[in-house]
Amino acid sequence: MTEKTLTINYKEYATIDALSDADKELMHRAISAADGAYAPYSRFHVGAALRLADGSVVTGNNQENAAFPSGLCAERTAIFAASAQRPDMRDYTALAIVGRNAAGELCEASPCGACRQVLLEYERLQGHPLRVLCLLQEGRVRETGSVADLMPFSFSL
Ligand code: THU
Repeated sequence: MTEKTLTINYKEYATIDALSDADKELMHRAISAADGAYAPYSRFHVGAALRLADGSVVTGNNQENAAFPSGLCAERTAIFAASAQRPDMRDYTALAIVGRNAAGELCEASPCGACRQVLLEYERLQGHPLRVLCLLQEGRVRETGSVADLMPFSFSL
């Protein structure tokens, strides 16, 4: 038996304003996108904004349904929309994610396991890292350099 340790490096910013101009804009696009969520059951609104390699942005938000498993998270809504609308540009540089709770306050949101799996497949397809920016408590932001960092020992065919 060998005991091994896994480490990930990530960055944390004290505020959205501490980000680069492009990432700041992406976070604000995610915040706006959260307003369009359809989340009458959880009342937890999530916004995601995906930057494509040509600089354009595709947004998504969570879409719920009375038949609960039929809904979809913001991150997958965004990347599926991007892949569907721009099959010529399946090349993504950054994804920003924010939450808005039932009280209307911005809050932490981190991609669920299913979204990580989906994001990872597109990251592998493009052959270079997709950075992930998550809003944290107190307006801080966590940046991970790739989806692979968020999904160790992942499944692939
Ligand atoms: N949700 C997302 O959209 N993204 C996440 O990263 C986590 C959870 C949604 C799913 C559901 O509509 C609501 O948040 C509560 O789980």
